Amino acid sequence: MKIVIASNNKHKISEIKAILHEQVSADIELLSLAEIGYHEDIEENGETFEENALIKARAAAALGYMAMADDSGLMVDYLDGAPGVYSARYAGDPCNDESNNQKLLAALAGTTPEERGAKFVSTIAFVHPEKEELTFVARGECPGQILYKYRGTGGFGYDPLFYYAPLDKTFAQLSAEEKNIVSHRARALDSFCAVLKEKLNINN
Ligand code: IMP
Repeated sequence: MKIVIASNNKHKISEIKAILHEQVSADIELLSLAEIGYHEDIEENGETFEENALIKARAAAALGYMAMADDSGLMVDYLDGAPGVYSARYAGDPCNDESNNQKLLAALAGTTPEERGAKFVSTIAFVHPEKEELTFVARGECPGQILYKYRGTGGFGYDPLFYYAPLDKTFAQLSAEEKNIVSHRARALDSFCAVLKEKLNINN
């Protein structure tokens, strides 16, 4: 069974492939956009993570494949959910993890620890090329708090500022194994795999 993942991020694809094989079926062949000859940029102009994941999955499904796509980001309570769908490009153009994190620290300057609640959100959409009724989006969230300065050197993005109280560590202090258990992406993937099995009638 072939499923296209609307991404060209090799790290993400191999991580998702391993989880799909383990939790859904070893018969799934997960193809990247490049592998099906799709080289255009997909414009992510949705207002929610769900919309953006669906936009990407629908673009791949339009080529006749079963398709999946993810979209994720950080939502900060004090900032009314920002940076949200703009997480990757929060600091404007050009931006990178460092400038995004500096902008976040500046936006929260003067706030108390209680005002720095946040969550990481991950959504994963599935679209079937012919059966619209099989479309679904799974969502996973991980609650935390934005620190005043970096702690830890692992991970990427906002990880060094994102404190996860149950483990008393930031995401940048977690091993890949630890992050893969508690992260928003892990939670979304768990739910995605369970629903996919049900939708595709896979019983193993
Ligand atoms: P994407 O959905 O993988 O493109 O992620 C969007 C943006 O959200 C990333 O560029 C990061 O800034 C942020 N983000 C998503 N997941 C994480 C995470 O696990 N750690 C840190 N930042 C993340």
